Amino acid sequence: MRLDKLLAHCGFGTRKEVKELIKKGYVSVNEKIVKKDKTQIHPNCDKIKVNDEEVIYEEFVYYMLNKPSGYVSATEDSLYPTVVELIDDYYRTDLFPVGRLDIDTEGLLILTNDGILAHQLLSPKYHCPKKYYVRVKGIVNEKDIESFYNGIVIDNTYQCQSAYLKILSFDKENSEVEVIIYEGKFHQIKKMFKAIGKEVIYLKRICMKNLELDENLKLGEYRRLTIEELDRLKDKSVLQ
Ligand code: URA
Repeated sequence: MRLDKLLAHCGFGTRKEVKELIKKGYVSVNEKIVKKDKTQIHPNCDKIKVNDEEVIYEEFVYYMLNKPSGYVSATEDSLYPTVVELIDDYYRTDLFPVGRLDIDTEGLLILTNDGILAHQLLSPKYHCPKKYYVRVKGIVNEKDIESFYNGIVIDNTYQCQSAYLKILSFDKENSEVEVIIYEGKFHQIKKMFKAIGKEVIYLKRICMKNLELDENLKLGEYRRLTIEELDRLKDKSVLQ
């Protein structure tokens, strides 16, 4: 990789700015000052320093975000703020959300620049489970559990895969439930409840595959995934 490209990637400035840093002799490769921006380096083997600060290059990054309502799960939007804008310690432009939560849905969203992991988590072939906490207008009952298990028909045409519905509590008007689905159709949970005559009033994703939302994260907060979390998430044997 070119030295100027690496430095720009690692947040030392725009391509133009880092070229200046290099030209002015602020950058060393393996303890030797280099002044050519075209210098080829190996990000994982060469020791690069800017003004004595070592440059740490990571090819892939992984964040867990507790998504707040009001943000779209996209990298750009002309109307609303996007979830990537919440990650302010990230300076590269290749970060994207793994899948989508509706603008009013909260909870677990993974953001990464690792397209392969994203594909593994999203591809219908892997049946990745996603667990949601749902507040529903109406009383959810045993019959609904069965309907979810047998496959709800949404949009009058599509029969959803078997889903797990667990009733947590209910009062005269509303129910609190958990739902696990293995696919990710547009507005799926809302449409499933609509199909049984009920309305979702609050939706929060709490788990994706084997990664649980860290309850210490307040809405809008994020953190890097730990190595163990990442290993579990990448473990293909869990996916089938
Ligand atoms: N199902 C929905 O209806 N909305 C979401 O954001 C996620 C799943």
